[in-house]
Amino acid sequence: MRARLPRIDFGRADGLWIPRWPQLAHRLNGASLLLPHLEPYLIRVMKQARPILADAAPGLLADVDVFNRQEANHYRVHAAYNRALFEQYPGLEAFDAEIKADFERFLSEESLEWNLAYCEGFECSGLISSEFFLQEIDDALEGADPAVRELWSWHLAEEFEHRNVTHDVLHAVAPGWLHRLRGFRAFGAHLQSFTDRVRDHLMAIDRERGRIEDAVLEAARSFERRERRFYAPRIAKILMPWYSPHARRVQPATRRVLDAYVDAAPGTPRRGNATP
Ligand SMILES: [Fe+2]
Ligand SMILES: [Fe+2]
Repeated sequence: MRARLPRIDFGRADGLWIPRWPQLAHRLNGASLLLPHLEPYLIRVMKQARPILADAAPGLLADVDVFNRQEANHYRVHAAYNRALFEQYPGLEAFDAEIKADFERFLSEESLEWNLAYCEGFECSGLISSEFFLQEIDDALEGADPAVRELWSWHLAEEFEHRNVTHDVLHAVAPGWLHRLRGFRAFGAHLQSFTDRVRDHLMAIDRERGRIEDAVLEAARSFERRERRFYAPRIAKILMPWYSPHARRVQPATRRVLDAYVDAAPGTPRRGNATP
């Protein structure tokens, strides 16, 4: 595991960045709005767990540090993209304030155990999103804005790479199946409510602007059916007491993205050609 930092220019990025599947573009835009608040929260929760890990599982500390560096890069690059979103779409400030307050509340009111389970839920879901985005929907992503596609390819490849970290930390600090399930449910309901509302807001604006035709939405329904078929059995596995992300192997499409950021000179990250 290592932290990579792409240099992506969002100066000409289009918020409606997946022409064949606008619903996914705007759902991921909702996720992008959330990440500059969620990922700093992940880092803070991992830092709170560190003293316990130092006694209970010191072998995890190095992975936690790389995880934190990867997440810090993710939210900074998403924040750069989000500035383009704020310029292109009115009405996002209230969503941003809402989600910021949510994570502040989680940190101040919830226990470390609850927050760790929430973080693990997010990471479990991120693993499925990574596999789906990088391996299953090249056809749906045809014509996608290259800058935004690179942002998500890079981010989701690293999500796959650090898939075990929060799972192992939760297991070391606060083990228990029902506890893990509660975290997954809390995360799932929170994320879905937020991203669905942002999607609806952005879709309404683009429909008003005449940028999304009925025929495109109709055609995208087949992608949505494919998405449901892909997610359902994988979520069922997450809900099992024996679930572990450890058995998953990096697939070639993910490997290509990760390797695109291997630099000739260490410490000088370059933009990679990360489109799978
Ligand atoms: Fe991330
Ligand atoms: Fe992550």
